Amino acid sequence: MPDPATSLPSSLVAGARAIVSSPDTQEKVRLAYAVSKAWFQRGLALGSPSKDGLMPDRPGRPDHPVLLAPRDMPKRSLTGKAGRLALLHSLAHIELNAVDLTWDLIGRFAHVRLPRSYYDDWVRVGLEEAKHFSMLQDRLAGLDARYGDMPAHDGLWQAAQDTGHDLAARLAIIPLVLEARGLDITPPMIEKARQIGDEDTAKCLEVIYRDEKNHVAFGAKWFRFLCDRQGISPEPAFHLFVRKHFRGALKPPFNDRARSEAGLTPGFYKPLAPLIG
Ligand SMILES: [Fe+2]
Ligand SMILES: [Fe+2]
Repeated sequence: MPDPATSLPSSLVAGARAIVSSPDTQEKVRLAYAVSKAWFQRGLALGSPSKDGLMPDRPGRPDHPVLLAPRDMPKRSLTGKAGRLALLHSLAHIELNAVDLTWDLIGRFAHVRLPRSYYDDWVRVGLEEAKHFSMLQDRLAGLDARYGDMPAHDGLWQAAQDTGHDLAARLAIIPLVLEARGLDITPPMIEKARQIGDEDTAKCLEVIYRDEKNHVAFGAKWFRFLCDRQGISPEPAFHLFVRKHFRGALKPPFNDRARSEAGLTPGFYKPLAPLIG
């Protein structure tokens, strides 16, 4: 675990800003651990975007990996060592984006009146995303590779930019569309890793899957909270946000059980799936 001893920001918002801005992935992870620890020890004030500075338009990133358009990315699968490395690398990239997306969520909307438990939930998510990225870095290192060796795609931050003006829209797209998709695709990946005898990858993905169920649950909880406060019905509001900010339909098959356990009932996502049969 990174040493949280040095250079602690002055508030949660300042910490979120420092995490997202840092181009050094090790520093990003170190700060995520240190800021989370200070927050849970009640040693950090919330701060505010007007006092602590606005979040950057784009996150700080290292020189490598090279970022490509999604259509230019090589296909990935768990078959063969090269395919497995490419898959782990792309998962590490997704988790690094999740670190930035979560801390951006914490810092960008701190002017919105929200209970302290809202920040407790998302700081926990921000800590877990840093842990996921570290675990995948370790897994890559175990296979003599590292994050930055292969190209990565540049599509994920777009979702953040498109919803930077509206917290409910951000929650609809990031936890309730993108992270919920993780619940659909991770169990088959775990099974595949076991089939090829890669127990270390399977274990790593199991931790991620367990944590991500909570991330979706927090998304559903706070999305409903915001809708309740505005007196609007959550399902139609979700449909509107997704049609406006997410390109294309939501892809089945869905992990209905895990989604429902997280509070994302079929009335949210089924009307957005293509009609089949
Ligand atoms: Fe994650
Ligand atoms: Fe997550």
